[in-house]
Amino acid sequence: MRNPILCALVVMLLGVFRVSAGEGEVNVFTARHYESDKQLYEEFKKATGITVNAISGNAPELIERIKREGESTRADLFITVDGGILGAAKKSGVLQPVRTPAVDERVPSHLRDPEYHWLGLTTRCRIIVYSKERVNPSALSTYAALADPEWKGKILVRSSAGLYDQSLLASLIILDGAEKAERWAAGIAANLARDPQGNDRDQAKAIAAGKGDLALMNTYYIGQMLNSKDPEEVKVARNTGLFFPDQAGDGVHVNISGVGLVKHAKNRDNAVRFIEFLLDVPAQEGFSAGNYEFPVNPKARKHELLESWGDFKTQRIDFNRLGDENPEAVRIFSKVGWK
Ligand code: FE2
Repeated sequence: MRNPILCALVVMLLGVFRVSAGEGEVNVFTARHYESDKQLYEEFKKATGITVNAISGNAPELIERIKREGESTRADLFITVDGGILGAAKKSGVLQPVRTPAVDERVPSHLRDPEYHWLGLTTRCRIIVYSKERVNPSALSTYAALADPEWKGKILVRSSAGLYDQSLLASLIILDGAEKAERWAAGIAANLARDPQGNDRDQAKAIAAGKGDLALMNTYYIGQMLNSKDPEEVKVARNTGLFFPDQAGDGVHVNISGVGLVKHAKNRDNAVRFIEFLLDVPAQEGFSAGNYEFPVNPKARKHELLESWGDFKTQRIDFNRLGDENPEAVRIFSKVGWK
């Protein structure tokens, strides 16, 4: 370029574009695996001009990566399902607190870390599902009762390698003590209809196929299946009953999904803005409408399917403790032979 003024102008413009690209993004390391989230990234981009770059992966591996990368990490936000993992992320030191007036207004205190290292985005319940043909729901009551001999050969579960049942067992350790929790896990292992296998949806499918009568399942999968493009899944979900256990006791187990601000976030302002966006009523209703989850923001409306389930009592425990008790839960599963 021979013209020095033009040359300077080009250099300046390139600089402007580079800065604006840097300012206009937020990097999210996410272990959530739902379509609803992609839509919310798009809506955030439309509303703010900020691009959401999602890096997906398995939660413990993402935490490990953020830790290993230290100050040089690209991660601004960590998003995952499961309170135990959120607790583990906090413990590993990769997060920093984020407290703003909007956060305080939008997230009830029992659905976030007491020190704001992570904030709940949605909740889901780990319920008992049953065959509408073969089980009368009046026979159902508690998680504990699933270990009764009357259900021998009838119970379907996924592998204990899955976080959802690890956190369920961790919650029972916290509420009932390790000894009672171990007796429960042993009772379930003795009542299994088959070796643990498949994901949550597969348990409902196995009920429909007559392989067992009862299973543990997260609520949103029922919503996904009822609204699935696959007519077989719709049929399965229609024949599956939902039961919220422990209503006269500690309440149903809550699986929380949440977000934490990474300690070495480079796009801190954008990240906080995205957090506040995700907690605001429209996005909260988006999670519920798109993925059948319960909003954390009390002002957000639930999907009508969730509304139809009525009110129910939920466990009240510090979710971080699910992470603390996770090793004990894993030890119990292996001891009692819940594979
Ligand atoms: Fe899931």
